[in-house]
Amino acid sequence: MKLKQPINRILSDALEQAGLTVETVQVSDAGKPEFGDYQYNGIMALAKQLKRNPREIAAEVAAHIPTDGMIGWVEVAGPGFINLTIDNGWIARSIDQVTGSKHLGVEPKAVPLRVVVDYSSPNMAKQMHVGHLRSTIIGDTLANLFTFLGDEVIRQNHIGDWGTQFGMLIAYLEEMGEDSSGSLSDLEQFYKNAKGRFDADPAFADKSREYVVKLQSGDVHCLHLWENFIDKSLGHCEEVYGKLGVNLTREDVRAESSYNDELADIVAALDDKGLLTLSDGAQCVFLEGDEHPFIVQKSDGGYLYATTDLAAIRHRVHTLGADRISYVVDARQAGHFRQLFAVARLAGFARPETRLEHVSFGMMLDKSGRPFKTRDGGTVKLIDLLEEAVIHAREAITSRENYSEEELERIAGIVGIGAVKYADLSIHRDSNYIFDWDKMLSFEGNTSLYLQYAYARIQSILRRYGGHIEGSVHLDTHDERALAFKLLQFEDMLLRTAAESLPHYITTYLYELASLFMKFYETCPILKEDIDETTRQSRLQLAILTAETIRQGLGLLGIGVLDRL
Ligand code: ARG
Repeated sequence: MKLKQPINRILSDALEQAGLTVETVQVSDAGKPEFGDYQYNGIMALAKQLKRNPREIAAEVAAHIPTDGMIGWVEVAGPGFINLTIDNGWIARSIDQVTGSKHLGVEPKAVPLRVVVDYSSPNMAKQMHVGHLRSTIIGDTLANLFTFLGDEVIRQNHIGDWGTQFGMLIAYLEEMGEDSSGSLSDLEQFYKNAKGRFDADPAFADKSREYVVKLQSGDVHCLHLWENFIDKSLGHCEEVYGKLGVNLTREDVRAESSYNDELADIVAALDDKGLLTLSDGAQCVFLEGDEHPFIVQKSDGGYLYATTDLAAIRHRVHTLGADRISYVVDARQAGHFRQLFAVARLAGFARPETRLEHVSFGMMLDKSGRPFKTRDGGTVKLIDLLEEAVIHAREAITSRENYSEEELERIAGIVGIGAVKYADLSIHRDSNYIFDWDKMLSFEGNTSLYLQYAYARIQSILRRYGGHIEGSVHLDTHDERALAFKLLQFEDMLLRTAAESLPHYITTYLYELASLFMKFYETCPILKEDIDETTRQSRLQLAILTAETIRQGLGLLGIGVLDRL
């Protein structure tokens, strides 16, 4: 259910009726209970323009706001704010509507956008590391969210499968014997060994370089080795995706190498537009105000990461028909994306109206605030991290109920993986975040476990009630009203999350929702005998909708719920 949109409309009608024209009317959340539910603060600027008293104007506008429907109470406050309070009866009726609807009252977009989400995108030469964990989790959440809101989503896993390292890797693969796939089970080790050979043996190094050239010229033997290597490496990633419950498949893979045949044409197209400058033998695009150029072809004729990204953007806009492309990549690549978007627009690879966004994110740090590493300073393998998560989760839940071994394993999986994902998603993606098992696996605070617990608690109430639930909602107490209003804000929150690509809005919302439920449950008994049946039905409806909203919200984050915890 949209709330702000209809309120903005009511306000702009009222302004018009008061003889005032304002281009866009935008109410904000009130912030404090005494300010009502929403506040409009546009009157002061208007008054300045008109050289009139703001409180007087506010009063005139307020007089034109009907209070017999959605809005129940209007008040002019301070220097000329208009405070708006939603009518309780309206909230109750709307909850009834949402309860009876399919998507928790979220209407699918009238005009869907086609959105490409570029995420995960690891390099095949090495094992996936923690940086790719963040991209994978944030990207998957955004893709789920856009889909839920009715957009057409195209997931793109832009894997790095091309470059000079692969000469060394396939030379080493050949040396190990092609079917010795066991040696590829630990990619990190494989890379280290290959590098060791490269540094120690000039003949091997020469062969590696020769294999790069052969690979680029399409030599069948080298291509075969390379395909085998990529296949294994991608298999490792898929193991991680599987454990994470992330919706990325082979069909979503659009590797860097797949653009190879278009790179010469990309450079030619830039040349046609007069965008290229030869600098130290390299083909560059110089952008105004930038110290460093965007280099698209090296002096030896080789192409770069940047060239491939230009080909990818052109493909996404002109072949896939993207209206919006979200690149979920760590913040250190901000410069690259700024230049990429600028060049793509100049070259016509992206349209002026195509929304291009770098969904950047900060680093994952350990408890002491240092970049996340293994004890001996190596990169942490994701698969190990996720296995550890399940072990920690077992410890956190094991004392709670008498689980069978099988149940414990299943629950620990959902709780542990959920905790890792939630901890990542619950802070502003641009900040670095501290990875802390104890904090993320706590039943208290803004954690997935707290939400899973709230969900399970509601399920237990429903089990104990056991009867049929069909009554309508009445809001008699403060805590019922607060919970109901929060429930209605679900769609507005999702729209804002999608507009700004900030998943922590979802977690903040869910945490507040669950906290409001706990408070409601304390003051508004449901199962107690002396509660009249109408009230009980109403409260049960609120409880069900709370549980469904938590389930759906966590579902968008790719986190499961449990009926018992
Ligand atoms: N493979 C790159 C890395 O690991 C990320 C690719 C992101 N996507 C893109 N279109 N550049 O850093």
